[in-house]
Amino acid sequence: MTPSRDSIIRLRKVTLHYGGDEVVREVDLDIRRGETKVILGPSGVGKTTILKAILGLLRPASGEIEVDGEEISKLPERELVKIRLKMAIVFQGGALFDSMTVGENVSFRLREHGLAPPGEIEERVQSALQFVGLAGAVKLKPAQLSGGMKKRVAIARALAAKPEVILFDEPTTGLDPINAFNMELLILKLKESRQVTIVIVTHDVGSALRLADSVAMLHEGKFIFEGSPGELQQSSEPVVRAFREPGSIVL
Ligand SMILES: Nc1ncnc2c1ncn2[C@@H]1O[C@H](COP(=O)(O)OP(=O)(O)OP(=O)(O)O)[C@@H](O)[C@H]1O
Ligand SMILES: [Mg+2]
Repeated sequence: MTPSRDSIIRLRKVTLHYGGDEVVREVDLDIRRGETKVILGPSGVGKTTILKAILGLLRPASGEIEVDGEEISKLPERELVKIRLKMAIVFQGGALFDSMTVGENVSFRLREHGLAPPGEIEERVQSALQFVGLAGAVKLKPAQLSGGMKKRVAIARALAAKPEVILFDEPTTGLDPINAFNMELLILKLKESRQVTIVIVTHDVGSALRLADSVAMLHEGKFIFEGSPGELQQSSEPVVRAFREPGSIVL
């Protein structure tokens, strides 16, 4: 495919599996620079699998994946490392290193890949932690944090690396309603204040409607809907309706 300037991530006819059955089959997806894209779908449909493929952690069985103008599906591992530096992922549980302090967690990638001069690291860590409202937590260990705080540290860690794309895997799942609300506010703040592309995978329709510029819904290995939150709300596609309003289905 010809590299795109408008899209930072593109999937073309991508098929993914783990050796057994196909998880997704010949899917296309376009994520425009600077947009917030939500990939919506039920549990087990392949949302995390798609994120892994975008990060080059899972090679497609067939099809092409383009990240920032480069086709990555056949790149050797050392080239993939460079591509991954353009992106940061916030995992579902935060995935912090328990033995390190919050500050060390946030600066880990900067030090590991030499992404910032040593003199700048502390400032980057402080500003990232400030953004997520945890400036005072720099010396704490993950065990001293609540689940919501861990997720915010994971966001600070993603931000510190100044990526072009931030991928969120189920940012609100497992949080109580107040922490889930605060997480959405944080993503909205990120959306407003930074020129970053945001990709969110979730099964939460409400989150999708509140956060997305555009939504792609995955069902049985295919994208069955793509459009704005307004279009998602209006869609009469039966699977979309059933997912949006489970109460509307007569069992
Ligand atoms: N490492 C793996 N090895 C084998 N099969 C896997 C692996 N990871 C995921 N799968 C399978 O691939 C399918 C898609 O999984 P995936 O984790 O992408 O779903 P998901 O949409 O992210 O679900 P959830 O909302 O529960 O996180 C599932 O059937 C799952 O069992
Ligand atoms: Mg998942």
